Amino acid sequence: MKKSNVDINALIDSMTLKEKVGQLVQFTSHFFIKSNESLTGPAEQMGVAPEDLYTVGSVIGFSEAKDMIGIQDKHLKEDPHKIPLMFMMDVIHGYRTIYPILLGLCGSFDPELVKECSRMAAKEASASGVQVTFTPMVDYVRDIRWGRVMESCGEDPYLASIMGAAQVEAIQGGDISSPEHLAACVKHFAAYGGAEAGRDYNTVDASERALREYYFPAYKACVDAGVKMLMPSFNSLNGVPSTANKWLMQNVLRDEWGFDGLVISDWGAVHELCIHGVAENHRQASEMAFSNGCHIDMMAGAYYHNLEKLVKDGKISEEAINDAVRRVLELKKELGLFEDPYHNASPEKENSLALCDAHRAIALRAAEESSVLLKNDGVLPFSTDHKKIALIGPFAQAKEIIGPWSCHGKSEESTTVEEGVKNLLPNSDIISVTACSFIWNDTDTSGFEEAINAAKNADAVILCLGEPENYSGEGNCRTDPSLPGVQSKLANQIAKVNKNTAALIFSGRPLVLTDINDSVPAIMQMWFPGTEGGSAAANLLFGKANPCGKVVMSFPKSVGQCPIYYNHYSTGRPKKAKYENEYKPFRSNYIDCGNLPLYSFGHGLSYSNFVYESLTLDKDTFKEGEELTVSVTIYNDSEYAGKEVVQLYLQDLVASAARPVQSLIAFEKVEFAPHERKVVTFKIVEPMLRFYDAYCNFISEEGKFTVSCGRADALLHTTEFTLKK
Ligand code: NOJ
Repeated sequence: MKKSNVDINALIDSMTLKEKVGQLVQFTSHFFIKSNESLTGPAEQMGVAPEDLYTVGSVIGFSEAKDMIGIQDKHLKEDPHKIPLMFMMDVIHGYRTIYPILLGLCGSFDPELVKECSRMAAKEASASGVQVTFTPMVDYVRDIRWGRVMESCGEDPYLASIMGAAQVEAIQGGDISSPEHLAACVKHFAAYGGAEAGRDYNTVDASERALREYYFPAYKACVDAGVKMLMPSFNSLNGVPSTANKWLMQNVLRDEWGFDGLVISDWGAVHELCIHGVAENHRQASEMAFSNGCHIDMMAGAYYHNLEKLVKDGKISEEAINDAVRRVLELKKELGLFEDPYHNASPEKENSLALCDAHRAIALRAAEESSVLLKNDGVLPFSTDHKKIALIGPFAQAKEIIGPWSCHGKSEESTTVEEGVKNLLPNSDIISVTACSFIWNDTDTSGFEEAINAAKNADAVILCLGEPENYSGEGNCRTDPSLPGVQSKLANQIAKVNKNTAALIFSGRPLVLTDINDSVPAIMQMWFPGTEGGSAAANLLFGKANPCGKVVMSFPKSVGQCPIYYNHYSTGRPKKAKYENEYKPFRSNYIDCGNLPLYSFGHGLSYSNFVYESLTLDKDTFKEGEELTVSVTIYNDSEYAGKEVVQLYLQDLVASAARPVQSLIAFEKVEFAPHERKVVTFKIVEPMLRFYDAYCNFISEEGKFTVSCGRADALLHTTEFTLKK
């Protein structure tokens, strides 16, 4: 870390109250770029005086290094204290080189790969002048209607904790003053993903026990990993918006978890306290949010207009303001901004890093390892000897596969499926037919005939289907998250005329694929795979890469099953899996649909045939302080080298409060040569058996447990053990 001589306390002492409040205000870069002229648009509407911009502490969003340097230079000339601005941005799944959306990437079950991707994004972003990223997003999700599931780590709190912490560690490194690293901001605390009816920004009502069991662990893991900042969520939680939720922000975050970092509101969230109906005006909203530990107001302008007055009226103490300002200045100091206000950003570095070969290679590997082979009736991998290949569907030539929240990634810089296949098979005859659109209410089938003819004449057909990028992401929710428009109809007709057909699905969420699941012989879930998506698709389809990604958010058979997740509690009247397709009266089930998802958490096929031969324990009883060793023997009964995610699940058979039917407690991604056999061992220790009892005490209880390997809905071997107290 660079040594800084800045004396933060002395600096604070030298500042006026107005200047201090400025450090707690964040505005968009548009305000600054315009600050030479008279202010226009939103800044003017917000009543911001141009000269006050020089008191502001941080900036959100800008385009490139030269903009950031320009804004910083101008600011430093005008600010009497020469306090550098801090530049923040949403660097979610890449900066210029885009890797798969997190919902896909987490399915790699490879924390090292996640770290590599985060490091690459941090490096590119830092070269462009970003100093803080609003990442990781670790909201626990169960409802595919919600558009922001694409940013999340899925439906398992243990996996999300590992992947969230991995991102924090990689983004921050050991030293955020290093030009390779940024400060991270975990979000959205808390339970934003529990939005009722999967509608963004909607109310969340969740029991304390559910919060602690499912929603909190990943935020806590990021806090434990040393995340510098945290963002409260937009939603109200059990009646109180998070930004003003004392129990959440004080009792849990600060008192229990010991978080001592900086808190920034979400965009305009201080203002939204009024719309939630818990504050009468911006003054009251500012008082509530600030007193609740929200140090920076992002883009509401509420602190800018009210904090000074609140101090003068004795509602907020100047010591509290000083404490918040100290946190902002300490972070600037830790970033090394007092010595290098550009954090080593430069247009030259920015250009040399963006989309460099090394970064493209990481993006390619990440896309290959995130894609999930959902189904394969023996058609994949396609032979590279196929001469005539038909690419059919709206994603065949689409560049728009990098996904929402792609920061400064550009669609035109991605490889399409067509380009990927052409690069891989330069001597094949490749024909692309769009056939229909991916718009939800489009009924036009006039392109089908051409597509059917192309399919009839092809050796292999690749259906390129999905939902457009703007159907997921913030604010983009769907009540019918199936393949939009007439794509299912197209797929069914194509599969009828050519059995050598595989579908690629591009989407920001698990879609309801029931309509095509029986007819299409193979389905590969690509998610939004990023810059190298088309090349990854080609490599996977033609066996140059072996699929190894797994589902981290269950694919329902019908949207009516939502929320659906593997780690649910039992009921008093569960239905046995063997009756999945039958309605059973007075059982917990549906008349018109089974209970199980179409594809469960943990599912994902390979071209290798992994045979789980056995699961054994070194003892059947153990106590606190001891270790139980689980050994799983797996054989790769195939000619394909491949990787398998070995998953270990636990069930607490009898406890004082309901426990999930299965919980993932460990996993390991293992590489196998053809016909290789490996024994993978896991250790179970007593803390792994703890849970929240009815009073929210985190305890373990004596009794019987089962441990299983396989995947959540297909446990291949199960053995029992006992914890003795
Ligand atoms: C709103 C989003 O909820 C949040 O995730 C993001 O960081 C901010 N906008 C800033 O862009």
